[in-house]
Amino acid sequence: MSLESKKLRYGIIGTGMMGREHIRNLLAIDNCEVVAISDNHAPSRAKSAELINGVTQFSDHREMLSTNELDVVIIATPNNTHLNILDDVLEAGPHVLVEKPLCTTVKDCQLAIERDKQTHRDGRVVWVGLEYRFMAPTRRLIREVSSGTCGKVQMVAIREHRFPFLEKINNWNRFTSNTGGTLVEKCCHFFDVMGLIAQSQATSVFASGNQDVNHLDEFYDGKRSDILDNAFVIVEYQNGVRGMLDLSMFAEGSKNEQEISVVGSKAKLEAMITESKVRIGLRANGTTGVEEFVVKQPHGVIAGFHAGASYLEHLAMQRAIRSGSKSEVTLSDGLNSVAIGQAAHVSIAQKRVVEISEITN
Ligand SMILES: NC(=O)c1ccc[n+]([C@@H]2O[C@H](COP(=O)([O-])OP(=O)(O)OC[C@H]3O[C@@H](n4cnc5c(N)ncnc54)[C@H](O)[C@@H]3O)[C@@H](O)[C@H]2O)c1
Repeated sequence: MSLESKKLRYGIIGTGMMGREHIRNLLAIDNCEVVAISDNHAPSRAKSAELINGVTQFSDHREMLSTNELDVVIIATPNNTHLNILDDVLEAGPHVLVEKPLCTTVKDCQLAIERDKQTHRDGRVVWVGLEYRFMAPTRRLIREVSSGTCGKVQMVAIREHRFPFLEKINNWNRFTSNTGGTLVEKCCHFFDVMGLIAQSQATSVFASGNQDVNHLDEFYDGKRSDILDNAFVIVEYQNGVRGMLDLSMFAEGSKNEQEISVVGSKAKLEAMITESKVRIGLRANGTTGVEEFVVKQPHGVIAGFHAGASYLEHLAMQRAIRSGSKSEVTLSDGLNSVAIGQAAHVSIAQKRVVEISEITN
């Protein structure tokens, strides 16, 4: 049967918080079903099995893949497991969405890209879960920039002020060796959005950051958590755009978890993500001429966190699968977003400007 009309059969690898968010969203979409799940932690499997009638459960993803019954596989396991699991899925052949960050280092992202080429299948969609670009106000901002509202973009500032990292299964997210570091793990989303707005490739990064407040007294197997909790990261792009990320993970008292501001030759655009608001202020109209409006997701489905972005991400991926078109969020996008995060960590450690080419070559 052609994939255009077929009920797509999904398998989920890793059924913790994000795996279940994917499951909830897929259950809300017509003409697809989750037929199999795999997780090596029985309580995670049990929580997901409660959501899906008659789902087949596996504790090893290789057994799940060997059934050859899946059209699409989602990888939602800890970051440091992505490369090996993706390798197995690419070998098996289904379409695949791998959660962000693609991998914990650029070197591993490059290996993933190489493996995709080596196992190439015509029409296979390989998608990275950089879903913040699917948030309604963010999409609107990107559209306004593309249509020229801002004029020539010069400055992109993204602020994430939020609560600390949540607890994860076996506390994998408490250590940089598992996550790639906060500026890779969390902030790859923002570097992805920054690149879409800048419409250019990053060339260099300068950052200052530290673990100053969170998890300081958390020890696991005698090792203290080493997760950075605040940073400023400045990014320069090939076309002269300047980007800045302002991250604080001890800012529960924020009205908006994320705010984006773009300033160009003609206007300043802003997106307030939690409030789902966009502001457009043309230079010619001054302070009193700033327009502000609410932007909602078109479908109204918010199954899980991320303000409906996962749902839109799946619709977009399914459109690509069914029409045989290319992935909208490629492995290269995954690599680029990790490269800026990794460069920022090097910059903090060595107190210097880091060229992206140092990280990618
Ligand atoms: N797109 C987003 O906005 C977003 C948000 C949160 C998390 N994530 C990403 O999703 C992934 C999972 O994060 P989470 O928050 O769900 O973590 P989690 O700890 O809640 O869940 C991870 C699950 O993977 C399972 N697992 C570990 N190794 C496995 C293996 N080899 N095979 C099968 N299962 C395995 C664990 O038992 C656990 O159930 C991470 O890569 C994270 O960065 C993305």
